[in-house]
Amino acid sequence: MVHIPQEVLERAAALVDQADRVVCLTGAGVSAESGIPTFRDAQRGLWSRYRPEELASPEAFEADPGRVWRWYMWRLGLVEQAQPNPGHGALAQLARLVSHLTLITQNVDSLHEAAGSPEVVHLHGRLDRFRCHDCGQPYPLRPQDREADRPPTCPRCGGRVRPDVVWFGEPLPSQPWQTALAAVAACDCMLVVGTSAMVYPAAQLPQVARDRGARLLLVNPEPTPLDTWAEIRLSGPSGVVLPALVARVEARKGRPRSSEAA
Ligand code: OAD
Repeated sequence: MVHIPQEVLERAAALVDQADRVVCLTGAGVSAESGIPTFRDAQRGLWSRYRPEELASPEAFEADPGRVWRWYMWRLGLVEQAQPNPGHGALAQLARLVSHLTLITQNVDSLHEAAGSPEVVHLHGRLDRFRCHDCGQPYPLRPQDREADRPPTCPRCGGRVRPDVVWFGEPLPSQPWQTALAAVAACDCMLVVGTSAMVYPAAQLPQVARDRGARLLLVNPEPTPLDTWAEIRLSGPSGVVLPALVARVEARKGRPRSSEAA
């Protein structure tokens, strides 16, 4: 049972409501209630069962492409079966309520889009897109590729096809990163949801926002390194906290501005 004091929720809603430009950064926690495992949770996180350097790095792919391919096909199956949860839904609703929302995600699933969020900045790529590891040519996945023991071959250059996600040691795709940085530098309120804030450069974004004077709101059932900077911490699962927060923002929108609490 999650209990967030009404007064804290109201203060958080006021910050969001009064901001001209809101940014939301999400991490694996926002999809946890859709049945997609996070990475760093001690019991169920993917990195408690698998070694990232054996599965999510260019070196791992070059050393054992079949193993990496099969692991990503398994994860693709998981995300394809998943449905957006009320947290995703609340963020889609928030985009309709505030004047300007940029939604940035570290997630490689497409559950924000499935919930109706209009534009999503994917910092770490997408699990349902593929490209050649050598020449970068996009590759449309065929049904037989899903069952294969090894990655398909690029029809253009003969290289190996890989998921279009960011692996450890690789740079972020430039355009999403630039879009994210610009949005964060210009925002006056940043909502950080379901991320351990351990992976850089994404974890740098809340710091940029704070340095520019934006108010920081965290939604997470567990402590994170950002806690000391946050103006408000809403402790609980995002599938519960976000709908409650967004309902408050919506209620405020219905009120005349003059009656707003500071
Ligand atoms: P992590 O697994 O590091 O962190 C997940 C966070 O979600 C933790 O802080 C949890 O406390 C929180 N959490 C768990 N359940 C939640 C819930 N129901 N509601 C809200 N929060 C919840 O995942 P990320 O921070 O997203 O990189 O990880 C960042 C990157 O590390 C990932 O994008 C991935 C990974 O290696 C790449 O794929 C490149």
